[in-house]
Amino acid sequence: MLDDVFRYQAGELTCDGLPIRTIVEAVGTPVYIYSLKGALANLRRLQAAFAELGAHIHYSAKANGNLSVLRALIGAGAGIDCVSAGEIFLALKAGAQPSQIVLAGVGKTPEELCFAVEQGVGWVNVENVAECALLEQYAAALGRSQRIALRLNPDVSASTHRHIATGHGGAKFGLTADVVRHLLDTQGDYPHLRFEGIHIHIGSQLGDTAATLQAVEEVLKIARAYPSISTIDIGGGLPVAYERGQIMPQPEAFADALAPLLKGYDVILEPGRSIIANAGILVARVLYLKEQGGHKFVVLDAGMTELIRPALYEAHHEIVPLVQPAADAPCEPVEVVGPVCETTDALAHGRPLPPLAPGEHVALMTAGAYGYVMASNYNARPRPPEVVIEPDGETWRIARPRETWEDLIRGE
Ligand code: LLP
Repeated sequence: MLDDVFRYQAGELTCDGLPIRTIVEAVGTPVYIYSLKGALANLRRLQAAFAELGAHIHYSAKANGNLSVLRALIGAGAGIDCVSAGEIFLALKAGAQPSQIVLAGVGKTPEELCFAVEQGVGWVNVENVAECALLEQYAAALGRSQRIALRLNPDVSASTHRHIATGHGGAKFGLTADVVRHLLDTQGDYPHLRFEGIHIHIGSQLGDTAATLQAVEEVLKIARAYPSISTIDIGGGLPVAYERGQIMPQPEAFADALAPLLKGYDVILEPGRSIIANAGILVARVLYLKEQGGHKFVVLDAGMTELIRPALYEAHHEIVPLVQPAADAPCEPVEVVGPVCETTDALAHGRPLPPLAPGEHVALMTAGAYGYVMASNYNARPRPPEVVIEPDGETWRIARPRETWEDLIRGE
């Protein structure tokens, strides 16, 4: 949404003071644009909020794995939370120290576990008893000692969309408390593993701090009984505001609420969205307008292939024209849709927008997280370029070029 990073200046939308139009004229649409300055400011805010807890921040690469983004965050002291060997590869390419990398995930392959141990990642977050045997085998073969955290499923209901809640009993994520206890009781069976942490992640875009507190209480019930546990990894999930006027709990609220509970433990945080979501936008062009079945449609050149969140989670993204509308411009509810051959390919339903004409551009706000990373080539649509504006707030560059038709058939 409009804030310090993205705002209207002299009648047009700017990022860090740079007119978005300049980038669009050079690279076309659709295009993702990220403010590295904005991402770094978000990281520093989290670092400051959790400073009292001495928390270490592992940026969750799944939110946005662009190497330029990763490099900037690593340079500012972030470790990287990875959910696949592919993400470890990205983190290493971007300059992360292996010790600052975590491998998490509910279905890590034996090859991924082996790769992680070989690379010497700082942590493996375990979600299955069988992972321990595999890790023990690889660590023993390499003569290593691998540090692990057990991911507890704390059986709490996070206040968020049901598709991004992960901490309730029926979820596939984590281990139940008795399994965590059992593994800690039998840790002697795994001489090459160091059982030093307990991990939770109860969901993303958390609407309150209450469920997190409850989950941490569950962690503590276990951790207090096992002195080898020095670290509590509280996962990601810190929310951002997607709608104008939406009030979400701030990082400081989470930090203040958690501080009394986590005293004496090393703390890890795995934020993705709260670092990069509001530092990025997706810019699209209006292709056509049409009116039928009682609806006015605005057809964009971007849709669910570039931003799947509305289709998948009924997510709201603000849509703002690049040219600032007059303060008294009449707003009419419209269906904002993409070009993809799917009824669910809509970016907004009944959204009041000022009049838009074909050829005009709009920005889908707060699209820095779970935008490009979830994009697809469905309908043989080449994926858009990713542009970054450097931390100086002045220079911009194409961090990843637009895909070509040749890219679509590479390897076939
Ligand atoms: N740690 C773990 C174990 C996770 O599963 C996730 C996200 C994170 C950290 C980072 O969470 P964040 O701080 O970004 O909320 N595609 C969905 C979000 C899926 C999140 C998956 N896990 C969306 O667009 O809303």
